[in-house]
Amino acid sequence: MSQGADILLGLQWGDEGKGKIVDVLTRKYDVVARFQGGPNAGHTLEFNGIKHVLHTIPSGIFHENALNIIGNGVVMDPIIFCKEIDKLLDMEPKCLDRLVISRKAHLILPTHRMLDAASEAAKGKNKIGSTLKGIGPTYMDKTGRNGLRIGDCELPDFMTRYEALKKKHLELLGDFEAPFDFTEAEAQWMKAVDRLRAMQLADTDVLIQETYKSGKKILAEGAQGTLLDVDFGTYPFVTSSTTTAAGACTGLGLAPNRIGEVIGIFKAYCTRVGSGPFPTELDNDLGQAIRDKGHEYGSTTGRPRRTGWLDLPALRYAVEVNGVTQLMMMKADVLSGLKELEVCTAYEYRGETITHLPYSLEEDLITPIYTTLSGWDEDLTGVTDVKNLPTSLEAYTRFIEQETGVPVVLISVGPDREQTLWRA
Ligand code: IMP
Repeated sequence: MSQGADILLGLQWGDEGKGKIVDVLTRKYDVVARFQGGPNAGHTLEFNGIKHVLHTIPSGIFHENALNIIGNGVVMDPIIFCKEIDKLLDMEPKCLDRLVISRKAHLILPTHRMLDAASEAAKGKNKIGSTLKGIGPTYMDKTGRNGLRIGDCELPDFMTRYEALKKKHLELLGDFEAPFDFTEAEAQWMKAVDRLRAMQLADTDVLIQETYKSGKKILAEGAQGTLLDVDFGTYPFVTSSTTTAAGACTGLGLAPNRIGEVIGIFKAYCTRVGSGPFPTELDNDLGQAIRDKGHEYGSTTGRPRRTGWLDLPALRYAVEVNGVTQLMMMKADVLSGLKELEVCTAYEYRGETITHLPYSLEEDLITPIYTTLSGWDEDLTGVTDVKNLPTSLEAYTRFIEQETGVPVVLISVGPDREQTLWRA
């Protein structure tokens, strides 16, 4: 933990296990703040035998000590958000006291969801594999300067603004039919906005700045992963926000010189959900075995995740783009039982061997080059001391450290809070 605000983010294609780690780290922080994405995310936390999935709410919400902020870079669907709140209220009746929402965060309208569906339908076999939560169209309206923000719901002409944007969307949609009951969705949306209006809405950029200046500790929580970043990911098969460290600055109002540690979360292997290139993909029985053992099914959409070997050129790239200072490796337990592990260390790309991530990762241009390392047989899920981890896992970890130049400070061996081993 440093003097500044720390950032925690994913280094692969999302689903690295960020939610679990934020939950583990929250007791060290005064504020946990989500800086981008929206209900496309599904952050899973497990403790006391119960699993919780958060979509928009920061993963620090289960700790009384921390204030949780939904930053200006986030896009919110009031319907999904209120459902999430209702689930949480049963367990954490005071959760709303420690949750603050940025007035500058953008609202996802039911028509944004329709636009998402229409865009995917029009793309046919080139579809992105979007979560269909309206994320892309909402960010488009934000940059196109048409969006509705949370703060607008406090203004007297909110309904006029809503109707104007809806009209624009319906014109664009033409005769495209909503894949859901629009009248019902709109009614639910209005009710949810009414509830939202009564919550703690704030100028969270100012709040973040004051928190920083008072010496309190902030953890900025990313969603999705570096390879889904709109600039640095596998474009166009990406999400629509800045998932990298820079996104914490723009998504919270946090100046770059106030950033301390950048904590990068990665899985001991790779997964990806949705379309797009994935050089180390295991489209075979082994890939299926990893999917089953690792419960690699989307926590937001339930879709099976594609699985593959660890990709070091991609990981190194993510380390550089984000300025990662600490690595945390998740799901090492899932690889138990494999005699040998392949790790991609370079690519054959247009007849050359390269160790960086090239412009295009398309299958016909790129072939991964693997190094084989020894696997381990032991079940890791009950290990409570890092000293008792198998030597071949230690060698695997050291290899990653050597290849990335960044220490792996934590290894996770199961979904529960307790299954977390610190190396440093
Ligand atoms: P969108 O963010 O819903 O527009 O989806 C764009 C791409 O990002 C799709 O391939 C999604 O599967 C992927 N994606 C979006 N959110 C997540 C996430 O939280 N985890 C993993 N993949 C995601």
